[in-house]
This record gives sequence, structure tokens and C-alpha cells, in this order.
Amino acid sequence: MSSTNRIALVTGANKGIGLAIARQLGAGGHSVWLGCRNVERGDAAADTLRKAGIDAHAVQLDVTDAASVASAATTVERAAGRLDALINNAGLMFAPPPSAAEESIDEMAQMFETNVFGVMRVTQAFLPLLRKSDGARIVMMSSGLSSLGEALDMRSETWSVGFAGYCASKSALNMLTVKLAKELASEGIKVNAVDPGLTSTDMTGNGPGHSPDQGARPAVALATTHAFGPTAGFYACTVAGELSLKSW
Ligand SMILES: NC(=O)c1ccc[n+]([C@@H]2O[C@H](COP(=O)([O-])OP(=O)(O)OC[C@H]3O[C@@H](n4cnc5c(N)ncnc54)[C@H](OP(=O)(O)O)[C@@H]3O)[C@@H](O)[C@H]2O)c1
Repeated sequence: MSSTNRIALVTGANKGIGLAIARQLGAGGHSVWLGCRNVERGDAAADTLRKAGIDAHAVQLDVTDAASVASAATTVERAAGRLDALINNAGLMFAPPPSAAEESIDEMAQMFETNVFGVMRVTQAFLPLLRKSDGARIVMMSSGLSSLGEALDMRSETWSVGFAGYCASKSALNMLTVKLAKELASEGIKVNAVDPGLTSTDMTGNGPGHSPDQGARPAVALATTHAFGPTAGFYACTVAGELSLKSW
């Protein structure tokens, strides 16, 4: 691994938007670590990227398992010595619950464990490595469904969407994004949340939506933003590929 390459870790990178983020960062010259809870699926994904000329490595990483996260941080530290970009992409959503009034508390807890506490577990474990970078970036994979502003706007597409537990987990992630961004700003570490837009992946039953490559765009843009780039923001991408600010 060349020490001059920027080094990125993408969680949940064996498929979907995470794999597309890893491919785009790798094509742009990053050494990419694919954090995957299933080693075989991670190795297969890294192999695909290596065949495309990308410096890709799989590391076992289950965001809900503290020992797995700590072991992944040790692996990256030993091999790379630092981390320049952390993309917290791994996420969990259950099939549409009947209503907020009847939603399974157990499923809500599992979504918070992955989408909120898992993200914080990974971020805390990798912060020592991010602090060794001369311009670290952290990207949180949020969702348009996290926006309280849109949830309260009758003109918004999300006005009539249910998924209360999932939406609430991503709203909580947004607040943690802001808290971390403010805390880490003086160290030059930028923290932003992104909305990939409706993307056709296993999570959405491979139904309507744009491609994972399009869904990856805002995360890649914020993972590579320059020293004067934003922090504590929430962004999507326009059809033309420009970053656009979203309402929290
Ligand atoms: N697709 C959309 O329209 C959409 C819209 C807004 C936001 N998002 C967000 O985008 C992110 C990626 O979603 P996607 O659409 O690409 O879904 P996906 O294809 O289902 O991929 C989800 C990824 O997360 C991984 N994951 C789940 N739990 C994990 C855990 N405990 N530890 C490590 N990895 C775990 C999965 O691993 P396995 O393969 O092992 O299950 C998989 O790699 C998620 O955070 C999602 O909430 C998606």
C-alpha cells in the first residue's frame, strides 16, 4: 500500500451504496478498506475492486460488535497507520412497520443499534487513526427520511412515509453528526451527513430509485472535500451531480 494514497474505510461496503462508494473512492486514488460483517462477502467485493485496479482490502467489521470494531481498527492501524476518510454507510431498515403505534420495539432497538450506536462505536474506535491524518473527513450515511423539516412539510415526498423507527434513527444520527462536527472542527476534521436519495438496492427491495453509483455521489464528495469545504452539513446531490444542502 502506498503511503501517499489517501486511506478510506467504508462500512457495509460489500454491496449497494457502500460498494459503490468504495469503488469511486478507489478509482480516485484512495486505498479503500471495506468494512464488512461477513468476511467472505467482503473478500469477494474487495477482489472485484482489485480486478478493476483499485487498492482494496476487506476487514471484518460488525458495527454492533465492539470487539469486531476494535479488531478492525487495529488491522487498519497496523497496515496503514492512519485513516483519512471514514464513511459510516452500514445501515439497517426493516420492512414497513404497520404504524408507529404498533411498530416492534425490538426492531426499533436493532435499527438504533446499527444506525446510531454502531456509527458512534466505529467513529470513536477510528478517531485515533483519523487524528493522524492531515485532513480527516467523516461522512454519515443519513437519509432524506431523517429530515424533521420534510416530515412536517405536506408538499414533501416524505410527508406520508411511515418507517418511524428507521426515520428516528437517522434523525438521531443527524444530531450526532452536528455534535461531532462542532467538537472536531478545531482539529480540521470535517463531519457531514448525506442523503443518497432513493436508490435501488437490497434495502429497498431493488425497486424504483437511481443506481448505487448515483447514490454514492454525495458521500464521495464529502469524503474528499477540501480544507475550505463544509462541516456540520446535510447534503444530497442534484441530478447534475452538484451538492445541495438539505434541511435537517
Ligand atoms: N437505498 C436507499 O434508497 C437509501 C436511502 C437513504 C439512505 N440509505 C442508507 O444507505 C446506506 C446503505 O444502504 P443500501 O441501500 O446500500 O443497503 P444494502 O444494499 O442493504 O446495504 C447495507 C449494508 O450495510 C451492511 N450492514 C448492515 N448491518 C451491519 C452491521 N451490523 N455491521 C456491518 N455492516 C452492516 C450490510 O451488510 P450485509 O450484506 O452483511 O447485510 C450491507 O453491506 C444505509 O445506511 C441506508 O440506511 C439508503
